[in-house]
Amino acid sequence: MKILGVETSCDETSAAVVEDGKTILSNVVASQADLHARFGGVVPEVASRRHIELMSPITQQALDEAGCGFHDLDAIAVINRPGLIPALIVGVSAAKAMAWAAGLPLIGVHHLEAHIYANFLDFGRNLFPIPYSLFPLVCLIVSGGHSDIVYMTDHSEYEMMARTRDDAAGEAFDKSARAMGLGYPGGPIVDRLAEQGNPEAVHFPRARLDDTLDFSFSGLKTAVIRYVEKARDGMSLPDVAASFQQAVVDVLVTNTFKAAERKGVRQVLIAGGVAANRELQRQMKERGAALGIAVSAPPPELCTDNAAMVAAAGYYRFIRGECCGLDLDAYASEPLAERREGVAAGSGE
Ligand code: KG4
Ligand code: ZN
Repeated sequence: MKILGVETSCDETSAAVVEDGKTILSNVVASQADLHARFGGVVPEVASRRHIELMSPITQQALDEAGCGFHDLDAIAVINRPGLIPALIVGVSAAKAMAWAAGLPLIGVHHLEAHIYANFLDFGRNLFPIPYSLFPLVCLIVSGGHSDIVYMTDHSEYEMMARTRDDAAGEAFDKSARAMGLGYPGGPIVDRLAEQGNPEAVHFPRARLDDTLDFSFSGLKTAVIRYVEKARDGMSLPDVAASFQQAVVDVLVTNTFKAAERKGVRQVLIAGGVAANRELQRQMKERGAALGIAVSAPPPELCTDNAAMVAAAGYYRFIRGECCGLDLDAYASEPLAERREGVAAGSGE
C-alpha cells in the first residue's frame, strides 16, 4: 500500500512516498531556512509563497524517485494542523486537488502525530518492525512549537501527560542561539558547538515544577540572554552552548522517564526537530539502558519536518478507514490529545 505524504506546515516543503507505513520509497525535503534566516524566524507569507513555487516540482520528484505515478498510489496524506495557516493551506489545497484529480482517498494528519510516526519508519535500526505489543509507550515530542509527553495505548490513542507552560524546547534553542550571536535555526548549531564545550562550565537553571511533569524553558532562555549580556567577550561560546544544552536535556530526560515510570511502560520514543539533538539522544538511551526501558529515536533527517513521517502516520489512519472529504481544512492550533483530569497534578497515577 503506497501513500503520498505532503508537508508544508512551516518552512519545509516536502513530499514522500511510503509503502505500508514503513518503507521510504522517496522523501524529498526542500528547506527554506536560508530564506528566513535574515528575519531570525519563519515569516508565514514568505513561506507560503515559496511552498506554492515548490509544491509541484517537489511532488513530481518524490513520485519519480519512488518510480511511481498517481495510479500506483492508494491514498494521499497531508498535514492540516497545527501550523502556520498560510503555509498549511498550500499543502492542503495541493493534496485535495491531487486526490480529486486522481480519485484517491485523502487523509488529514496532525503534525505531532506525524512526528511520532517517524519512529515507525524503517530506517534499519534496532527495534524494527515495531511490534504491536510495543504499546503502551511514552513519547517525548520536542519541536520548534511543542514540548509534550504523550502516553500511547495503541495506534492513534493518546493521552497528554505534559506540555510546556511557555517556550517550546526548540524555541529555547533558537532564541538562546540568537542571544549567543549564532545563526538560525539555532538547534543544529548549538548541537555542533556544544560538542567542544564543557556542559558544567555555567550553571543554568532547570525549571522543575513540583507537582507536574510540565516543562518551562523561558527562565532558562532569559538566563542565557542575561549571561551573554554580562559576559560579553569574556565567555567561551562552546561552554555556554554545552551548558545551555545540558540544562534542556536534563529536564527532558528526567520528566520523560518519570512519565514512563508512572505508567510502567517499557518503551519510550522521542520525536520532533529537537529529538535530532545528539546529546539528547545519547542521554535518553543511556538512562533508558540503566532503567531497562527501550528508547527509540529516528535519525536526525527524520526528526525534523519531512513528508515520510506524514505518509507513515496517514497509513495507520487509512487502514482503519479514517479518511477525510474534500472539505478538509487547515487549523492553526489543535492539541494532539486532551489531558485526563488529575494527571497534570500527578494524582491518580
Ligand atoms: O519539528 P521541527 O523540524 O519543526 C517544527 O515542527 O517546529 O523542529 C524544528 C526545531 C527548531 O527549533 C530547531 O532549532 C530544532 O528543532 N532542532 C534542533 C536540532 N535540529 C533541529 N534542536 C537541537 N538540536 C538539534 N540537532
Ligand atoms: Zn515539526
